[in-house]
Amino acid sequence: MNKINLAVFASGTGTNFQNLYHYFKDSEKISLKILISNNSRSGAINFAKENGITHYHISSITDENPDLRTLEVIKKENIDLVILAGYMKKVPEILIQEYKNRILNIHPALLPKYGGKGMWGDNVHKAVLENKDSKSGVTVHLVNEEYDKGKILIQKSVDIDNDDLESLKKKIHFVEYEIYPKAIETYVKGFFS
Ligand code: GRF
Repeated sequence: MNKINLAVFASGTGTNFQNLYHYFKDSEKISLKILISNNSRSGAINFAKENGITHYHISSITDENPDLRTLEVIKKENIDLVILAGYMKKVPEILIQEYKNRILNIHPALLPKYGGKGMWGDNVHKAVLENKDSKSGVTVHLVNEEYDKGKILIQKSVDIDNDDLESLKKKIHFVEYEIYPKAIETYVKGFFS
């Protein structure tokens, strides 16, 4: 059986991308085939370069039609599933339509709380801490036309003790590394078999 090909989209440090790469490196069923980033100086692109992972820099500054190019790349590379891992750009509508139920995202909070416009990166954790919530967590969900509104696939919560921004971020990242690869595996099993 052919392997299921993943494309990871990442804009920043890319630690989730790195984690996914290590996790699937020796998988017989899943291949992390390419990275797409809008940020040529991202940690994700650097990691891809250092590890010989096919990568594409697609941005509205350097590309005339970034949405179309994204779709072309995805098709040319025979991508089955798109994995967002800290991707700061809006996913092209055209891709959302063509890849319905085939785009996953990870969000650093317990959706539907702390989702939607502006709720990305540190903003999420700051809002959680400001509200003095006793729990936060991680959500893996499908991507549709509305920000952070697609079907939830898995969630895992973490307790907030005396956390500040840095310690909460660390806790959340740790859970992300644990659940994202497994959520992808489970989804692939259900969707493609
Ligand atoms: C993660 O917290 C993820 O939930 C969010 O963006 C962050 C990316 O972190 N969507 P990294 O670049 O993978 O370290």
